[in-house]
Amino acid sequence: MLTHKRIFSGIQPSGVPTLGNYLGAIRNWVAMQGKTDSIYCVVDLHAITVWQDPKQLARQTREMAAALMACGLDPAKVLIFVQSHVHAHTRLAWIFNCVARIGWLNRMTQFKDKAGKDREAASAGLYVYPTLMAADILAYHANLVPVGDDQRQHLELANDIAEKFNHDYGVAFFPTIEPLIQGVAARVMSLRDGTKKMSKSDPSDQSRINLTDDRDAIAFKIRRAKTDPEPLPEHVSGLEGRPEARNLVGILAAVTDSLPENVLREHGGKGFGAFKEVLAEALIAHLAPIQERLKRLLDDPAEIDRLLRQGAEKAAAIADPIVAEAERIVGFLPRG
Ligand code: TYM
Repeated sequence: MLTHKRIFSGIQPSGVPTLGNYLGAIRNWVAMQGKTDSIYCVVDLHAITVWQDPKQLARQTREMAAALMACGLDPAKVLIFVQSHVHAHTRLAWIFNCVARIGWLNRMTQFKDKAGKDREAASAGLYVYPTLMAADILAYHANLVPVGDDQRQHLELANDIAEKFNHDYGVAFFPTIEPLIQGVAARVMSLRDGTKKMSKSDPSDQSRINLTDDRDAIAFKIRRAKTDPEPLPEHVSGLEGRPEARNLVGILAAVTDSLPENVLREHGGKGFGAFKEVLAEALIAHLAPIQERLKRLLDDPAEIDRLLRQGAEKAAAIADPIVAEAERIVGFLPRG
């Protein structure tokens, strides 16, 4: 079994990254950069499990990669690449489709949420989404996966798949994955409904802060964010049953590198009007340098594409031998 640590995580190019993606995942990726071997992937194969306009998908894939770099991921220190460029993912995903049980997939809450009422009309890809996710991680024998809280169930399933593969074939080949779900913002909620997660796919743009939102848009969305009529509590216990207040306090704590209790020590007793002004200013200040870097990077799309090709080559050099070994274990005749 493995003794080294390797990080893998992925992000869908199904829209502009949101504050949820940034605070729940990307920022933690940047913080861990350089500490251990790390691999980050823009998951276009996952994105097409729901309809994507082809031109937009290509543009958004490049923009998502650029956004990761603008947030601070350095392609000289970590691998950044596009999922469909490394075929090892789909090769291993097929094997995992044959290891995973239908009963396990039926329990996935994200499938139920995304498929909605008409499950029969959902794509088969959406159903097997988590087996591809398991393949993404295990094709690199990665064992640390930094994600937001919404991915927890998928990572448990990935461990079930790895364990069943090892058991069925009598090997100790795939490692156990450890989810890294960190920080006060592991779950950033919608600005319109504090019980729903902030998401790229919410039809209302006012429900989220996009990493590319300008000053006016951020100020407007925060001003319009749903709240309750009470002033802010003095202590964290007072956030109980107040999901919108909890969310806004958590966001301010995250962008100012503080904790909810410290935010409430400073702002407890204030009404939301005053608090929202502070929050909007903090967000604008935090995101401005990222937005500037993103603009500069997108001035040279050919350079982004070159960096992504380079990332894919290095990623394939790690994943190909691991997946070839999985294929040998399964009993496929060697190709060469
Ligand atoms: P995706 O693209 O939905 O989100 C990317 C990352 O952002 C986190 N996140 C959030 N964190 C806190 N609050 C939120 N509101 C919020 N919204 C999103 C997600 O938890 C995630 O970490 N299935 C994955 C992509 C994926 C992947 C993988 C992840 C594909 N293969 C392998 C890890 C390992 C997804 O849809 O992420």
